[in-house]
Amino acid sequence: MEPSGQPGERAARIGVPRESRDGERRVAIVPKVVERLTGRGLEVVVETGAGTGALMPDEMFIAAGAKIGDPWDADVVVKVAPPTEDEIGRLRSGGVLVGFLAPRSDPAITEALKAAGVTAFAMEAIPRISRAQSMDALSSQANVAGYKAVLRAAELSTRFFPMLTTAAGTVKPANVLVLGVGVAGLQALATARRLGARTTGYDVRPEVADQVRSLGARWLDLGIEAVGEGGYARELSEQERAEQQDRLSEAITGFDVVITTALVPGRKAPTLVTAAAVEGMRAGSVVVDLAGEAGGNCELTEPGQDVVRHDVTISAPLNLPASMPEHASELYARNASALVELMLDGDGRLAPDWNDEVLAKSCVTREG
Ligand code: NAI
Repeated sequence: MEPSGQPGERAARIGVPRESRDGERRVAIVPKVVERLTGRGLEVVVETGAGTGALMPDEMFIAAGAKIGDPWDADVVVKVAPPTEDEIGRLRSGGVLVGFLAPRSDPAITEALKAAGVTAFAMEAIPRISRAQSMDALSSQANVAGYKAVLRAAELSTRFFPMLTTAAGTVKPANVLVLGVGVAGLQALATARRLGARTTGYDVRPEVADQVRSLGARWLDLGIEAVGEGGYARELSEQERAEQQDRLSEAITGFDVVITTALVPGRKAPTLVTAAAVEGMRAGSVVVDLAGEAGGNCELTEPGQDVVRHDVTISAPLNLPASMPEHASELYARNASALVELMLDGDGRLAPDWNDEVLAKSCVTREG
């Protein structure tokens, strides 16, 4: 039966579109989460084929209690990737949108949502407080990226990761350096170690040293600290940057693989690995740059490309989480549905409490 009445007077209707951006294979809500939402009395409308990229066919959504139909007419549309112009045109004025909205890197999207009269919540803007951990999609997707970056490096490397003792002789384990040890960097260290590499981590936030060591990695101390607001790093001064680049150039020569993840919120990614540093690396070494979307951490990075310079491969894959769509979607769906559920009252009606810090901070436009 179709729920009747105005949004706010009945249980909310959730819409799940098929993602339209190139290469985006994730889906914002997965069948398991549909079950939970419909169990609460919500209606979930999924666009046909929304789960195809993640190998979740329409039948799985139907079996979980969803309807296949037009998701754009729902009270709350839940997406993964930032909406395109065309998608914004399909949103209902007064409706709610939840998704990655790139409020800092692409403010035109927020402007367009505002003009469309939409109330939009950016997953990137959810405060990183304990209560909101279940909604932290930046972290869940960074875990996927960190893991995949290591597999990519292993694939591109001309050398083994683990130590091997064979009849043909012994192979030394690879030396892997991770620059920037936030969520993605920690996962990269853990994954590289599971593959048998010797691991080292570096960051400008000294409090990360213990986390690095707890993963069995060495901590590289270059004597430069740059703690900014909210637990993030701050941008380095010109002098600090030059010192960092110099010291890193020297340290990097001993590594087979360098994985970079360094970001400063709202800024271009810092250049940590200069062209000269790459030149100093052993032939066959690999740099995987996860900061490609923000311009890259390596001077020779070409976002979205693998390039070979001085016999070193520099790979800057974009949107790595989309390359592992099943688990990336499952984790994202839990994050996004937790945010949606925060907007509902006990009867599943939309009733956002604007005094709630999580809703207030993640909301980028409110009814235009
Ligand atoms: P991020 O993706 O913004 O940056 C990645 C890493 O790059 C950071 O560790 C940063 O310190 C480092 N970095 C930036 N500039 C650098 C430079 N010039 N040289 C070397 N390293 C540089 O970070 P992410 O993963 O989003 O985490 C940011 C903060 O959020 C951390 O403090 C983390 O502990 C915190 N956090 C809190 C959570 C919670 O309490 N719910 C959950 C997840 C993260």
